[in-house]
Amino acid sequence: MIEETFIRKTEEFSKNLSVDFVKKLFVFGTLDSTNTMAKDLARAGAAEGTVVIAQTQGQGRGRFDRIWQSPEGGMYLSLILRPQEQAKKASLLPFVAALALAKTIDVYGVHATIKWPNDVQVNSKKIAGILLESEINGNTINYIVVGIGINVNIDVKMLSPDIRSKSTSLIRELGHPIDYHKFLRAFFVQFDTFYALFKKRKYQTIIDEWKSNSDTVGKVIQIQTLTETIQGIALDVDQSGFLLVRTEKEGIKKIVSGDCLYFDELSRV
Ligand code: BTN
Repeated sequence: MIEETFIRKTEEFSKNLSVDFVKKLFVFGTLDSTNTMAKDLARAGAAEGTVVIAQTQGQGRGRFDRIWQSPEGGMYLSLILRPQEQAKKASLLPFVAALALAKTIDVYGVHATIKWPNDVQVNSKKIAGILLESEINGNTINYIVVGIGINVNIDVKMLSPDIRSKSTSLIRELGHPIDYHKFLRAFFVQFDTFYALFKKRKYQTIIDEWKSNSDTVGKVIQIQTLTETIQGIALDVDQSGFLLVRTEKEGIKKIVSGDCLYFDELSRV
């Protein structure tokens, strides 16, 4: 789709959206990174519910400073949140976004599972990723940007070979392209539902829902954190969404952040 058409269609779409959460949608053809733009807007005072969306990104960013390849056909968006909750609860927001994505994908008859903390997978391959960036002062959340990249109508051949082997897309799973804006609306509706639960402080409901959509608990895993590699069995997630891992030598360890690999995937990397 040419850039002007994408922008016009998406702006038109936003006028008829009527999803509580979405207050303003900024639409771009190509942008370096929707997260960078959303952070700039948040620092300038943009309200909760401001969303930035781009057709493609030149410098898409993933977790741990990785590049998020962002060719045409993918969906790239960032949501600005300003929840009036304690900062320690922010660690559940990746669960909120991952749940909304998994539920949206399920509607297409494609079974999506969540790999801790927030990789959305189909048939053990990544279909969507989430990058949270925030400004927190003490116990107060100033803003949180939830960046989401979804392989909607991407031919995985457009991704580099290392990423391609671990990725899938909706078009690939279904065998036909899907309507970009229908998917976007469905996602916003799901996000609205789960974020409303978060604001009502129904944290346990979010964790329970996450657990029933995740396949991590019970698996033999390897976690790569910034400082160490941990192997063990994923036992559970706690009230903050942190992963509890039973290790052979160090007993139960609580993992706050890291890359999770399932043991059966290790031979593929
Ligand atoms: C991951 O590493 O799994 C997270 C990927 C997040 C990518 C999205 S695409 C939209 C938003 N803008 C970015 O630069 N990154 C996020």
